[in-house]
Amino acid sequence: MDLNQQVIVVTGGSGFLGQSFIKSIATHNGIAIIADVDDYTGQQTKEKLKTETGLDQIYFQHIDINEKSSICQLVSQLIKQFGRIDALVNNAYFRNERFWDHFFDVQLEDFNENLTMNLGGYFLCSQQFAEYFKKQGYGNIINVSSIYGVIPPKFEIYKGTSRTTPVVYASFKSALLHLSKYMAKYLKGLNIRVNSISPGGVYNNESETFVQNYKKQCATKGMLDQEDLQGALLFLLSDHSKFINGQNIVVDDGFIL
Ligand SMILES: NC(=O)c1ccc[n+]([C@@H]2O[C@H](COP(=O)([O-])OP(=O)(O)OC[C@H]3O[C@@H](n4cnc5c(N)ncnc54)[C@H](O)[C@@H]3O)[C@@H](O)[C@H]2O)c1
Repeated sequence: MDLNQQVIVVTGGSGFLGQSFIKSIATHNGIAIIADVDDYTGQQTKEKLKTETGLDQIYFQHIDINEKSSICQLVSQLIKQFGRIDALVNNAYFRNERFWDHFFDVQLEDFNENLTMNLGGYFLCSQQFAEYFKKQGYGNIINVSSIYGVIPPKFEIYKGTSRTTPVVYASFKSALLHLSKYMAKYLKGLNIRVNSISPGGVYNNESETFVQNYKKQCATKGMLDQEDLQGALLFLLSDHSKFINGQNIVVDDGFIL
């Protein structure tokens, strides 16, 4: 899959999945922009991935997906630097300190903050990039949702652990899938497509109990590795998916079935 020097912005690009998306983009001949609110980790990630890949086309730019001025500044900077922006991957993920509360403990202020900072940010970022894509004559937006945007949580997999799927997570990830379809339809005729990827759980040092519970729900592998999402991402970024619009690709080893 050749991304032909496309300029691709990944919000939350220095996070766990963001880093692997950036790496995939750069190693498939894309220009990968780590866009993150955390400047220190962003710079560190850029240097680390440049060393790991031996590639120069990895950049860091500050963005706060909840600040219009910050998004506009990033867009202007990239146009100045590259003359175009080909795609936006909405991948950033905010959690406040009460994010993981169980249903009956959730306070409305925390629900609202986590909802706004994520869903509001995905909307604002998409709106501002779409404004630019409209002028440019083309664009591509990929929203990173989740299996828990598609189905309600399988609470049984948390048995014997303190974890849960927060109600606000299910709320903003399901809303993001609908937002994707809304935008795909609203932007019809502007040569801007909008699709989603809904990953299953990606292994990141979860407890053995959780990993085993999770695996029982899957077809073969269970929890995924970061690289397992690469195919869907590259496909949606490439011309192979030129006429795919308003769709959601679930990558989950059959978890939702
Ligand atoms: N990790 C998984 O197993 C998994 C599974 C399904 C879906 N997802 C989705 O993948 C995405 C990435 O998840 P992750 O596990 O890599 O998360 P992560 O916490 O490792 O990374 C999130 C990144 O977003 C950045 N961020 C937070 N607020 C921001 C803001 N306002 N503006 C810009 N950047 C901001 C953080 O600095 C961080 O680098 C999320 O949307 C998540 O819902 C993850």
